Amino acid sequence: MMTKITLRRPDDWHLHLRDGAMLAGVLPETARHFGRAIIMPNLVPPVVTGDDARAYRDRILAALPGGMAFEPLMTLYLTEATDPADVARAHAQGLIHAVKLYPAGATTNSQSGVRNIEAVMPVLEKMAEIGLPLCIHGEVTTADVDIFDREQVFLDTVLDPLRQRLPGLRVTLEHITTAQGIDYVTNASGDIAGTITTHHLMINRNHMLVGGIRPHYYCLPVAKRASHQQALRAAATSGNPRFFLGTDSAPHTDPTKESACGCAGVFSATNTLSCLAHVFEQETALDRLEGFASLHGPARYGLPPNDTTITLEKRDAPVPYPAKIVTGAGPVTLFDPGHPLFWHVIA
Ligand code: DOR
Ligand code: ZN
Repeated sequence: MMTKITLRRPDDWHLHLRDGAMLAGVLPETARHFGRAIIMPNLVPPVVTGDDARAYRDRILAALPGGMAFEPLMTLYLTEATDPADVARAHAQGLIHAVKLYPAGATTNSQSGVRNIEAVMPVLEKMAEIGLPLCIHGEVTTADVDIFDREQVFLDTVLDPLRQRLPGLRVTLEHITTAQGIDYVTNASGDIAGTITTHHLMINRNHMLVGGIRPHYYCLPVAKRASHQQALRAAATSGNPRFFLGTDSAPHTDPTKESACGCAGVFSATNTLSCLAHVFEQETALDRLEGFASLHGPARYGLPPNDTTITLEKRDAPVPYPAKIVTGAGPVTLFDPGHPLFWHVIA
């Protein structure tokens, strides 16, 4: 039985760091283990221009504790007013690594997102021309579509037509939660990849709703039934380079989660690697963890893997993770998979 594993240092291809006191509180949780992360732009106001991205990157680097190495990979928030020339300039400068498409109303701070895809076609055409990936929150927001069907309907009504129309567009379907999403990314022709979160590998909607409502498991896209969770686990552990880690670690303070109308987001930066080792061991795929967490993402984004490593060791004693992270913005509850974790990051 394998009890120790060394990987190239992993990266997180979908991360929310927020700003100000929250940024200062959560950034070390990611930087401790991860080399780089794709930084989500859904601040208030959002990160829309190259100048916004540069200023946000500088705030992230200023919040990084001395002695920690971490590279934020910036993104722009696509709006119907986004200027293709500004996007191309920010890309040419090496400042941004992707643009994020939020359908308006899909999730936290998505009100500036896209209502009419026609309005952003000039940006998407420019991105296809320069090879800049589009990261997509793949859910429709129409009121008549059930929340558990939003991802599946998006594939048929938005994503596939868009990719047929613009086959050169490089697409990352983010935080996939359904077997249909997995099938789409597995089988589609052309340039497509998908990220999978830590929490969607570990929980399904029963964990969130049976025996009481657990607001710290509420996120978007919302966790689906167990058969979908199984499809995600199979894809993540398959070795298929189209799939890689994007934690979607998304901190909200406890009062905003534990509320009559709680925010969507799971905060998993701190214990993600212990969680992933647990899942990959359960699926007898520990030898594929490095691909998922450390190799497929850089390959997709045209970057070399990190040149440092991390080592995990399985011990008899569980890892003593805190229940909450204390930040200047308030307490943030850490993702609790509901059982102890035995894989310790030791170096
Ligand atoms: O659960 C989520 N939280 N899903 C998202 O798409 C956004 C994120 C956030 O920003 O809190
Ligand atoms: Zn997200």
